[in-house]
Amino acid sequence: MSVRDSGELRVAMVGYAFMGAAHSQAWRTVNRVFDLPVRARMVAVAGRDAAKVSAAADQLGWQEAMTDWRALIARDDIDVIDICTPGDSHAEIAVAALAAGKHVLCEKPLANTVTEAESMVEAAVAARAKGFRTMCGYNYRRVPAVALMADLVAAGRIGRIRHVRAVYLQDWIVNPQFPLVWRLQRERAGSGALGDIGAHIVDLTQFVTRQFITGVSSVTATFVTERPLPAEASGLSASAGNGGPSGTGPVTVDDAALFLARLSGGAVATYEATRFATGRKNALRVEVNGSQGSLAFDLERLNELEFYDATQPEAEQGFRRILVTEPAHPYMSAWWPPGHIIGYEHSFTHQMRDLIDAIANGPD
Ligand SMILES: NC(=O)c1ccc[n+]([C@@H]2O[C@H](COP(=O)([O-])OP(=O)(O)OC[C@H]3O[C@@H](n4cnc5c(N)ncnc54)[C@H](O)[C@@H]3O)[C@@H](O)[C@H]2O)c1
Repeated sequence: MSVRDSGELRVAMVGYAFMGAAHSQAWRTVNRVFDLPVRARMVAVAGRDAAKVSAAADQLGWQEAMTDWRALIARDDIDVIDICTPGDSHAEIAVAALAAGKHVLCEKPLANTVTEAESMVEAAVAARAKGFRTMCGYNYRRVPAVALMADLVAAGRIGRIRHVRAVYLQDWIVNPQFPLVWRLQRERAGSGALGDIGAHIVDLTQFVTRQFITGVSSVTATFVTERPLPAEASGLSASAGNGGPSGTGPVTVDDAALFLARLSGGAVATYEATRFATGRKNALRVEVNGSQGSLAFDLERLNELEFYDATQPEAEQGFRRILVTEPAHPYMSAWWPPGHIIGYEHSFTHQMRDLIDAIANGPD
């Protein structure tokens, strides 16, 4: 029986820390907010430590906890595998899940190497022919202001795009004593700031402009090359010492990545991704300049979009702020009355909405 006929999408998730919590919140919420033809049921979560995964299942709302993702994939009462692990396991889990006839949602960056990414695309194309859908977790696309930005560009409201300017700035590893977590190890994360946060701005700019990067010129830097080994780590927090391993290890990824790019429609773009922008906690900004106007988005003002319309009378021109909370705005009719703002976690709920829609109704 298809998911649509059963009315239920049975979900299982691998990994249960930062993204695991964000995805769980979205799975819990999506059917309570959006009117969808199928209802997500949170069947099972997998991790490697039995006690921790069991506690996570209780806290996050999963019916069962399992310690082997392969056993999860082998079950025939699961329709979708949601991958919330570091990049070194994305390809293996995703390809196995697709081969087993599951829909797959995989966190970004998709894979750690081009070869892995190609194997995932190949598996996704084969699975698509059998009706199974795939999605990569670029949740920022699903912030209403960003979706509106893409709609305005597509409608030609800023004309021909000349410039794209994007930064994603964090500062959580400025302290050289911050431990050597998996995000600082090439064999686990693939790359550093480039893949972790640079991937988001690459995706956002391509999504907003519908132009693709055709060439780049770049510099990368690693400012702190040796760090203490971690005792505990999750998401962007960690500690060293406290009975954990002693000593230090080498940082094998970039701390900062900056590049210039040409886009397929003739625009030029600049990108900056760093975890050393002291004081900038999660500063994601994108600006697009076109022949008839400009659009700018700042994640710290997530409900707003700045729009400069050069077709307005000269005396009235200027950047204006659109408060993106109207029912006419993307995703917003399902939420609160106009002016009642939403937050970071809503982008994940929108991601699950779009995935369920794709599985039930077929759009890419
Ligand atoms: N979309 C976003 O905005 C966003 C934000 C943060 C992280 N991410 C991505 O999400 C993924 C996870 O990042 P995170 O911050 O949640 O990391 P995290 O360290 O907080 O959590 C990773 C989880 O994966 C588990 N895990 C690790 N290796 C495993 C394995 N081999 N088998 C089973 N479980 C395993 C860990 O136990 C933990 O539960 C990464 O790909 C990261 O780039 C995306």
